[in-house]
Amino acid sequence: MLVTRRLPEGGLDPLTAAGHQLVQRAGDDPYTAEELTALAPEVDAIVCILTDRIDADVLRAGAPGLRVVANVAVGYDNIDVAAATELGVAVCNTPGVLDETTADLAFLLILAASRRSSAAEADLRAGRWTGFHIGDFLGVDVHGATLGVVGFGRIGRAVARRAAGFGMEVLHHTRSDTGITGWVRELDDLLRRADIVSLHVPLHDATRGLIDDRRLRLMKPSAVLVNTARGPVVDEEALAIALEDGTIFGAGIDVYEREPEVHRRLLAAPHAVLLPHIGSATEATRRRMAQLASEGAVAVLAGERPPNLVSG
Ligand code: GLV
Repeated sequence: MLVTRRLPEGGLDPLTAAGHQLVQRAGDDPYTAEELTALAPEVDAIVCILTDRIDADVLRAGAPGLRVVANVAVGYDNIDVAAATELGVAVCNTPGVLDETTADLAFLLILAASRRSSAAEADLRAGRWTGFHIGDFLGVDVHGATLGVVGFGRIGRAVARRAAGFGMEVLHHTRSDTGITGWVRELDDLLRRADIVSLHVPLHDATRGLIDDRRLRLMKPSAVLVNTARGPVVDEEALAIALEDGTIFGAGIDVYEREPEVHRRLLAAPHAVLLPHIGSATEATRRRMAQLASEGAVAVLAGERPPNLVSG
């Protein structure tokens, strides 16, 4: 089995317990595309992370010996699932184990962007604080606000549960009716009504650029946008301009269109809280993610169908 990174302690236990032999990258440097293509034919399984691009070339090089790619992430847009399906390579991910941790971070961004805490702390640390001022760092209230959750899978629902504690009204948008109170058929309608919009959709053709210039203009000038899903769901430049122009009030962002690059205008935009893709970053959750991915790989190699199999 090829493991493309050093993973959290204990994360590979299911692989070693099953007696599999590991080829593991010692550090954190990613393999190049050429290295992955060269290694793929040597292994039965690849355990990788979301910055490893497992494209058709890697999969073609690996098949038919390569039987499973297990991504230590819930999102799997880094893997060409269609090519994998065609070549008979199973793909596994890590659903369920990072929902609460990621929802915690989404809520952190909701609070931080609404209350401008990063800018206020930066000011204090820079020695610019001259004392309490009645008009400094005024934000928008989170309690009692209307939260619009876009995508209502496990993570979106976990964010909605937290909102109840803040006395928020929760709307959600998904393509098909969830039958749950608060479902809004049209995304545009949700964007017009919400005070805070939190994105929880996977990245695919239909969600790429979902929040663009036109949709940002539908939002309230007091609104806050939070993205802990995938960067390309939001047009980063359009978002930066919306913040500069006051089209919306603020943004809390954990994921970017071209990671690790962040649009220069977004870095300079007002009322933006920017984190480096740490949604699931707790020790316990990252360990569990690595274990779940490993369990999926072990199951596929044993001829079983794991619960975390991604259907092509
Ligand atoms: C992180 O972004 C994940 O998809 O697990």
